Amino acid sequence: MNVVFSDQPNSQIPVNSRRKIPPGPRGKPIIGNLREFRSDILGLLETSARAYGEIVHFRVGSREIFLLNDPYYIQHVLQTNSRNYRKGMALVRSKILLDEGLLTSEGDFWLRQRRLIQPAFHRKQIAAFGQIMTDCTLDMMAQWQPYVEARQPLNMAQEMMGLTLIIVCKTLFSTTITEKERAIVQEAMEMVLQLGVKNGHRPPFMEKLPTPGNQLAKKAIRQLDAIVYRIIRERRQHPQVDEIGDLLTLLMTATDADTGVAMNDQQVHDEVMTLFLAGHETTANALAWAWYLLSENPAAADQLHAELDKVLKGRLPTVDDLLPYTQAVLQESMRLYPPAWVISRQAIGDDEIGGYPIPAGSAVFLSPYVMHRNPNYWENPERFDPTRFLGDSLQWRPHFSYFPFGGGARQCIGMNFALMEAQLVLATVAQSYRVKLVEGVKVEPEALVTLRPRDGVPVVIEPR
Ligand code: HEM
Repeated sequence: MNVVFSDQPNSQIPVNSRRKIPPGPRGKPIIGNLREFRSDILGLLETSARAYGEIVHFRVGSREIFLLNDPYYIQHVLQTNSRNYRKGMALVRSKILLDEGLLTSEGDFWLRQRRLIQPAFHRKQIAAFGQIMTDCTLDMMAQWQPYVEARQPLNMAQEMMGLTLIIVCKTLFSTTITEKERAIVQEAMEMVLQLGVKNGHRPPFMEKLPTPGNQLAKKAIRQLDAIVYRIIRERRQHPQVDEIGDLLTLLMTATDADTGVAMNDQQVHDEVMTLFLAGHETTANALAWAWYLLSENPAAADQLHAELDKVLKGRLPTVDDLLPYTQAVLQESMRLYPPAWVISRQAIGDDEIGGYPIPAGSAVFLSPYVMHRNPNYWENPERFDPTRFLGDSLQWRPHFSYFPFGGGARQCIGMNFALMEAQLVLATVAQSYRVKLVEGVKVEPEALVTLRPRDGVPVVIEPR
């Protein structure tokens, strides 16, 4: 989910002038398109895809990048020939925090871990978390009361970030994390993410320098580690029997079907860190964008409210409720603003895509943001229209024209968790409130680790 644009040792491939190279922006001598990559990556990727088509070639310094903007090419990398691709360098560099967690590990180790963890994310298993999700949302709404009464603005992006972090803490650890620790976790996560973005623009050796930013991040990681290891230690000493089927218990008790071996503390730690990070920032942004789009499209908000009133008749939503329009609002929000806006891979061996050679070591970018706005696959792509996702309209689409959760073997393991959480949060809030963007505010996307609204989503919340 992370993306970094610095040089990677393996991608310094000499550009053979006789090699067939896809079209792309020319860039400057030596630096290529480095400047635009840094200043406006979304704009560059989108305009280049429109100008040059299904496969675009960039040079960023000595690095070669191929942007694929065709569902079948994307499928080739994520599914058909996925064995020839490893995670992009960005994720390799986030190993500083995530080590050998599911998001960053590769090969047989990854496969074993994925098989161990998959059952914990089974639809039936996560349904048990629905109540926690709704309760946490109600707690958040109770704290909004003074703001609602005074018509004072709230930053919905920040509210969603806080809420999804609490939900991930509770579903991972039940009650074994204190308020104080949760605040430490939130602050540390934010710092590590910020530094990750900064370091992304620098050569790898700079991560190791004792700069104040690096020192602070190291301290934050140490604090996080201490909390996570404490919880694991305590849980090993006092295993929770049945009543708390939280994710930690599921991780600690999962055993390999062939060998019967469970994860050691280090492995549990890496997975917990990964679920912490991957499990809240993305969902928070999906929700923040949904609130923004609903406030800009009052007719869609009306339709959402009508569905909630009709189906729920004033009671709280549960995981068993069928709310097709609510779900379509989320899907359409993730079409326009996919939190994981780019998925990057590195070719292990030589490959060929669309008749062009992809040399071993090249970086390949698959961008849900760009693909989801491709006019060949989406009519009037800039328009927010949840009805695109109603009925069987997705069935005739090429699978990879919409891929907010990635695809193939490495598709997001938390997809059902995220969809359930986002739907329950959206329904619980929208049942009681109408959310209106503060007048005159312009909301812009910022492509960091995830696609965030640059200055948040300041809103006024009105009772319905
Ligand atoms: C709207 C919310 C979310 C979005 C858009 C999202 C998106 C993604 C994407 C695109 C990938 C694939 C990355 C790649 O192929 O390089 C991914 C992987 C992953 N996600 Fe999510 N995610 C979301 C929520 C979650 C949640 C809630 C969790 C856990 C609680 C989670 C855990 C993971 C993990 C562990 C992986 C790595 C899976 C593997 O490689 O086996 N994600 N996610």
